[in-house]
Amino acid sequence: MAQLFSRRATTIFRVVLTLTPLAAAAGGGLTYAWLRSDAAWGVGKPAPQPIPFRHDLHAGVLKIDCRYCHTGAERAADAGMPSAQTCMTCHSQIWAGASVLEPLRTALALDTPLRWRSVSRLPDFAYFHHGAHVSKGVTCATCHGRVEEMPKTVKARTLSMGWCLECHRDPGSRLPLHTAVLATAEKKQPSGQAPRAHDTSLLMSCSTCHR
Ligand code: HEC
Ligand code: HEC
Ligand code: HEC
Ligand code: HEC
Ligand code: HEC
Repeated sequence: MAQLFSRRATTIFRVVLTLTPLAAAAGGGLTYAWLRSDAAWGVGKPAPQPIPFRHDLHAGVLKIDCRYCHTGAERAADAGMPSAQTCMTCHSQIWAGASVLEPLRTALALDTPLRWRSVSRLPDFAYFHHGAHVSKGVTCATCHGRVEEMPKTVKARTLSMGWCLECHRDPGSRLPLHTAVLATAEKKQPSGQAPRAHDTSLLMSCSTCHR
């Protein structure tokens, strides 16, 4: 029987057959690496803001407490954003006529909120609660980085699900207060019974963050 394909064609066919899955794997690998990378999550990228507000000046140099402007951070789900009035406690005197503060005066005159852009907003299907974390001793910097050193506010962590779970799997080892809390708890426990600082199964269950 005559050969259907030339020897050369068969070789080309073999090469293509081997290379295609390799190329697909490499492409997939690159896509995977991109999806996992900080850049894909917007880490380090500032958002355009109506006023060039500077944390490094207000929280860093002037040492204004975070909670002065983000009043919900300790107890509520949302940390909250400062109103124009909050800024005006100082800026009705300092830099009062400056053009960079024009949106502030407009917001005040029209009684509308300032439209700050968020760098850390989660998708709507994910639930987060500030108070639950801050009251347990998780610091702002753990999740937001050293904001008081930022001239422009950027995201410091991915805030991805994998990142959340890294801590939820074993929060004890990440909490500054943990050792102190555990030491007190251990004193109250009868010997041989290890206290459970956190219910990890609850922290890992889907419905805790997707409700
Ligand atoms: C407790 C007082 C205080 C509060 C509250 C405050 N500021 Fe300031 N702000 C200052 C001082 C002081 C300066 C520095 C003035 C200087 O260096 O001449 C300043 C400077 C600024 C500047 C100029 C920064 C630069 O480029 O040098 C902007 C813009 C500004 N503030 C915006 C705001 C906004 C927006 C708010 C509200 C979210 C706010 N400030 C709340 C005290 C305050
Ligand atoms: C004088 C008021 C003021 C103080 C004090 C302040 N902030 Fe802010 N913060 C703002 C304003 C205004 C914005 C929105 C503009 C921006 O992102 O820079 C903001 C934005 C943020 C964001 C980004 C929120 C988002 O949705 O992406 C984080 C995180 C944050 N602040 C954390 C902190 C921390 C931590 C401290 C204390 C170290 C602090 N802030 C102190 C006014 C303040
Ligand atoms: C365990 C991590 C974690 C800690 C600790 C934390 N944050 Fe946040 N923060 C987040 C996440 C996640 C978001 C986005 C929430 C969302 O979109 O639902 C956020 C959002 C914010 C915002 C945007 C406005 C808002 O109401 O959501 C501000 C401002 C803020 N955080 C400030 C703070 C300050 C100040 C502290 C410390 C007192 C703090 N955060 C502690 C994770 C954290
Ligand atoms: C550094 C550690 C840490 C990180 C990071 C962290 N968490 Fe938590 N989370 C905790 C601790 C500790 C608790 C409280 C456990 C307790 O009450 O015993 C908690 C509790 C919660 C709760 C339960 C709140 C309630 O209703 O009581 C939710 C929801 C939650 N976390 C969501 C998130 C999400 C979403 C992220 C990521 C954006 C995140 N957490 C990142 C440590 C962390
Ligand atoms: C500690 C909080 C937390 C827990 C627990 C959690 N998630 Fe998430 N999940 C998030 C956050 C935050 C996001 C959004 C950021 C992201 O996509 O990584 C998310 C995103 C997702 C997405 C969308 C992913 C995508 O690529 O868009 C799915 C699907 C999901 N979660 C399913 C689950 C399932 C199933 C479980 C239980 C096995 C679970 N999650 C447990 C916090 C959590």
